[in-house]
Amino acid sequence: MKKAFITGITGQDGSYLAELLLAKGYAVHGLVRRASAYNRSRIDHLRTDENVGSGRLVLHYGELNDVTSFHRLLHKIEPAEIYHLAGQSHVGLSFELPEVTCLENGMATLHLLESMRELDTSTRLYLAQSSEIFGAPEGEDPQDETTPVAPRNPYGCAKVFSMQLGKVYRESHGLFVCNGIAFNHESPRRGENFVTRKISMGAARIAAGDEAVIELGNLDGRRDWGYAPEYVEAMWRMLQQDRADDFVLATGRTHTVREFAAAAFAAVGVPVDFQGQGVEEVARRRDNGAIVLRVSPRYFRPVDAVSLRGNPAKAKAELGWKAQTQGADLAALMVEAERG
Ligand code: GDD
Repeated sequence: MKKAFITGITGQDGSYLAELLLAKGYAVHGLVRRASAYNRSRIDHLRTDENVGSGRLVLHYGELNDVTSFHRLLHKIEPAEIYHLAGQSHVGLSFELPEVTCLENGMATLHLLESMRELDTSTRLYLAQSSEIFGAPEGEDPQDETTPVAPRNPYGCAKVFSMQLGKVYRESHGLFVCNGIAFNHESPRRGENFVTRKISMGAARIAAGDEAVIELGNLDGRRDWGYAPEYVEAMWRMLQQDRADDFVLATGRTHTVREFAAAAFAAVGVPVDFQGQGVEEVARRRDNGAIVLRVSPRYFRPVDAVSLRGNPAKAKAELGWKAQTQGADLAALMVEAERG
């Protein structure tokens, strides 16, 4: 039975990837952080699934930057495939927590690569990289694997460090390391402080009759939003190739935060109109004029990537992968899930 090791198994992508690998017959080992509050809700259904059976899903306590124990764990598991997904992934928060962001997204990759040098050389590694490496792409639209990096926040800087190290260890030590440069990918399992989940949760509450108001930051932020379960399929495909390489994972289409919110409200039968500008902007219900969304300076970042759009042509040609769900369909899927 093939063994996979997932860091970040309790996160959105980790949980979907664990499902995928278990369905393919893998034994899945996951790294979990000890916390006083229980944090495994995204994988609980797998732990009680009798088809998974005992021994096919194994969780290990660990910390990415507890180097010796992490090293020991990797050698004990001896996985055929490692998916490194863990790390502080909130871009806005990375301005407040730059050190932990860089330790978890940058230095942890280095520790992992160093440990891998001593593992069986057939071990394959997927590194979760991000479109935030492009930050300000200076007219390069869409961005692909050759677009120069220009990160605009500590998170993007850490991901550049991680990605470049992955390439260096591939070239200089012959390790099988793939960088997946993933653009935004969302789902009902998205963390509650990412914009699509904030919107879908808020729209569902408002449709249910709550007098809630969604507070957001930059409504002009334009992102290439895809559907997370489709992206973990591409991660797996990368590690099944004959040769390790880097791939952009994206839909190739963008929407503004404002458009995503309008689509979410439309999906629950609460069409809205946006009025005003900048921090004065609000969205009002078309039926009774009530404010359902307002802009708050609290959620603005010191600098925000204006528009990120990926070119997934290489992933399509070489992995046979194509994102299917995006835009209004994604917004509808997410609000429907909130409504249960
Ligand atoms: N989080 C958040 N909260 N973002 C807001 C809000 C808000 O209240 N209001 C507006 N936004 C805008 C942000 O300024 C940004 O332009 C856009 O919504 C998307 O923000 P996020 O959902 O936080 O995602 P992100 O694009 O910064 O980063 C995500 O995608 C990256 C891949 O491109 C994260 O998942 C990263 O970890 C990932 O690498």
